[in-house]
Amino acid sequence: MRILGIETSCDETSVAVVLDGIHVQSNVISSSRATFEKLAGVIPEQAARMQIECITPVLQEALIEAKITMSDIDAIAVTRGPGLLGSLLVGTVTARAIASIHKKPLIGVHHTLGHLSSTWLEGGHEITSYGRPGGASLPLFPLLTLSASGGHTDLWHRASHTRGRLLGRTRDDAAGEAFDKGASMLGLPYPGGPSIQKAAEGGDVKAYDFPLPLHAEDTLDFSFSGLKTSLKYLLRDISRASSTRGPQVEDLRLTIDMAASFQHAICRHLVDRVERAITRHPDVKEIHLVGGVSANIHLRNVMGDLCRKKGVTVRVPKNLSYCTDNAAMIAAAGFFLHQELGDDVFNTFQTEASIPLEAVIKE
Ligand code: KG4
Ligand code: ZN
Repeated sequence: MRILGIETSCDETSVAVVLDGIHVQSNVISSSRATFEKLAGVIPEQAARMQIECITPVLQEALIEAKITMSDIDAIAVTRGPGLLGSLLVGTVTARAIASIHKKPLIGVHHTLGHLSSTWLEGGHEITSYGRPGGASLPLFPLLTLSASGGHTDLWHRASHTRGRLLGRTRDDAAGEAFDKGASMLGLPYPGGPSIQKAAEGGDVKAYDFPLPLHAEDTLDFSFSGLKTSLKYLLRDISRASSTRGPQVEDLRLTIDMAASFQHAICRHLVDRVERAITRHPDVKEIHLVGGVSANIHLRNVMGDLCRKKGVTVRVPKNLSYCTDNAAMIAAAGFFLHQELGDDVFNTFQTEASIPLEAVIKE
């Protein structure tokens, strides 16, 4: 089944062609990120206006790259939410129009289910690999998925694409949001994840102490607001000290070490939750890291260390472009929804700024 995917939930405009939820024939992404780099976030109306301008060229490019025309498409999958409403509407209105003109079935996809499907694209990439003689293969259920982006941080136990249980979620900021806000405090550009990762290169992860959130509580939830507050006080103390002695050459070193320690604190919290979940759910065959934060190299390293100790496979999306928002993951999710639920997924859907994933993944 060849699916055309469309994703416009935030500042990206993306169209992809994916065969059977796995083989990516094209995945074109146009981002307005550069426009928002100095603003520490996205301006919704501006993002939507830019998406209106680029959705048609992106669609054409995705078809050309896949060397197909609309008649070769079996169905269209589009992100129906959650996200910025104006941006979502650009994608869903376009999808409805081309589905109607070309008489193709249309599937509305939950954005986060897209992220959860991203580890199937091209088979994903195994950071650690256990119990699989013969090398790379497709994911095996049951598995744990840590889904961490700028809008959510969830830990799922999944029996299939549409069956599973939410084990924990963030009580305040999302992990990506913690990176974004931390970067803004450190004077680094948006999005914060990649800029903190870059600033942290060669930094000392132990230079500054951050708390390990919720460690003493019997929960698999996440919380990042305490880390943000710790960084704020740390910066205040450092700026007081430097205003009494004047700016020093070693101030750059401070930023590098603070970025490294802050990044490590976020990753340590994520790994701490996963370790606890593995102990509670010894049936799981794999751990998946998805969403924008799964692109983080330090997170991959520390999660790899944990899973080597535990003898569990860790899988991440095959390419960095499948970690952050992209249409290939939406096409994949559309395929798996159809595979598990049949033609019912072709029913009508509403475009909504907020929808819980529990409406799609049920126990
Ligand atoms: O999944 P995504 O592209 O969009 C949402 O659905 O939110 O995730 C974007 C988030 C941003 O907060 C960004 O700072 C974070 O993912 N991110 C990263 C990295 N790349 C993107 N965080 C840490 N390290 C990275 N390399
Ligand atoms: Zn996303």
